[in-house]
Amino acid sequence: MIATDPQDIQNLRDGGKVLAGALRTAAALVAPGVTTAELDLAAEKYIRDNGGVPAFLGYTPDGMKSAYPAVLCVSINNEVVHGIPRDTIVLEEGDIVSLDLGLSFNGLFVDSAITMGVGEVDDTARKLMAATVEATHAAIKAATVGNKTGDIGAAIEDVAHRTGFSCVEDLGGHGVGKAVHEKPYIPNEGPAGIGEKIVEGMVLAIEPMLAEGKGAIVLAPDQWTYAMRDGKRAAHVEHTVLITKDGPEILTKE
Ligand code: MF3
Ligand code: CO
Repeated sequence: MIATDPQDIQNLRDGGKVLAGALRTAAALVAPGVTTAELDLAAEKYIRDNGGVPAFLGYTPDGMKSAYPAVLCVSINNEVVHGIPRDTIVLEEGDIVSLDLGLSFNGLFVDSAITMGVGEVDDTARKLMAATVEATHAAIKAATVGNKTGDIGAAIEDVAHRTGFSCVEDLGGHGVGKAVHEKPYIPNEGPAGIGEKIVEGMVLAIEPMLAEGKGAIVLAPDQWTYAMRDGKRAAHVEHTVLITKDGPEILTKE
């Protein structure tokens, strides 16, 4: 959406804070032996206790065959996005886990994700997660009035190449605000200078995904989880930002 109404902007800011708190709450539970269903439950409770409504539960993104069955997406190691939480999936020491969450607050939608280690993780995992955070900050910095969506992708690709990782193919960011997924599509790799012009008031979900190996993905048999084709690990970080004339404002932080 293009947010111009101060009340809409306030709802997006308030929703962003609730979302950040829900992710913080779920992240605090991450430890060896915890099931991904427990994280889902904690995120749902935090959202509902704070006046939000889970946005992914029952939502069918374009191109998917069914409604998403949970509140949180939990994607482990070689999984990149849309992993379904289950009481049979137990986190293990050394895993890297992405928590991706969306909510609406007074009818306006925000979307955010983090990737973190379970207990001690190896050096490559730490570098992959740090590079993805760095790519996110570079991508957000490129989201300024007058730039184009391709400039965001190019910023992500720059960081990937500089840090020795690859960009996950075929997935990207998106407009958000009135719905979970809106136009414009935001590429997660270059080239710069192409795509839609970024304008004041745009609400964008910027979500770099970097991979340890090659960028190709596969859809798992559950028809939801996207995983890396080569079985290597990926990391994912996402923020919802409001484009102001003074620069991008990150909404999904406390
Ligand atoms: N954050 C996810 C994305 O932008 C949204 C997940 S939609 C769901 O793709 F249906 F999988 F929940
Ligand atoms: Co998203």
